[in-house]
Amino acid sequence: MSDASIDLVWPDPASDLDDSDLLALTAFPVARTWLRANFIASLDGAATRDGLSGGLGDAADRRVFALLRRPADVVLVGAGTLRDEGYDGLRVDDASIGWRMAAGMPPHPTLATVSRSLHLDPASPLFTEAPARPIVYTVASAPHDRREALAAVADVVTVGETDADLRRLRDDLAARGLHRIHAEGGPHVFGALLAAGVVDALHLTLAPSLEAGDAGRIVRGTAAGPLPADARLASVLRSGDELLLHYLL
Ligand SMILES: NC(=O)c1ccc[n+]([C@@H]2O[C@H](COP(=O)([O-])OP(=O)(O)OC[C@H]3O[C@@H](n4cnc5c(N)ncnc54)[C@H](OP(=O)(O)O)[C@@H]3O)[C@@H](O)[C@H]2O)c1
Repeated sequence: MSDASIDLVWPDPASDLDDSDLLALTAFPVARTWLRANFIASLDGAATRDGLSGGLGDAADRRVFALLRRPADVVLVGAGTLRDEGYDGLRVDDASIGWRMAAGMPPHPTLATVSRSLHLDPASPLFTEAPARPIVYTVASAPHDRREALAAVADVVTVGETDADLRRLRDDLAARGLHRIHAEGGPHVFGALLAAGVVDALHLTLAPSLEAGDAGRIVRGTAAGPLPADARLASVLRSGDELLLHYLL
């Protein structure tokens, strides 16, 4: 059994799933726009260790992270996460490229982000090495010079005055034919997506650790009180002591 061996615990128990089993279990529905989010949290709800999500993950989480990206038309990542996690040009691995080409898809998903400040470097690999032209969603109040600089390397789309309207963002992606939307956070963008009522599913890895400290949770920036999301369990995967949960919202 490899480190990244993954069993299906529920609904139909099965051992050591292969990639095609995992892809089938987590497939996007056909013929509709679907937005899902992928997060990891510790048992006490921390979304980061030492300021990054990567510290919480193990080989199984990284395997599922990559497989969840594989069938996506677009990967949506908030500007804060792009900056903190040091994303570069969004590229999937060779196995994913082969899978995507066989499915008639472009080799890599498009990267989309959302930012008020547009504090994103147009000379960074995120843009210069992007295999598909990224999309930057922003607001009318964003600085003009940064908007112009980014427009040379990305589609810059205004979807609000001072706050991006994430329903408009989702609708714009769908209008571009990007119906399989995979969001990799972060917590503020996830909060805004939930508040806009546009999240269809959550893939949450529960890391078997207790972090304490003052790390944030996977949802930030929304008003106190429950969000309008009744989560329904779709599947439970297990790798060692870690659980990988799939909820429909
Ligand atoms: N546990 C996990 O799975 C996971 C996943 C992802 C990230 N993280 C962690 O989360 C931390 C980053 O958190 P974060 O909440 O700052 O990241 P984030 O949600 O990716 O980014 C926040 C930024 O997105 C922009 N934004 C958010 N809502 C907006 C709206 N309605 N309109 C316009 N722009 C909007 C703003 O960008 P500007 O500041 O540019 O205006 C805002 O500062 C990092 O430590 C990262 O490691 C954890």
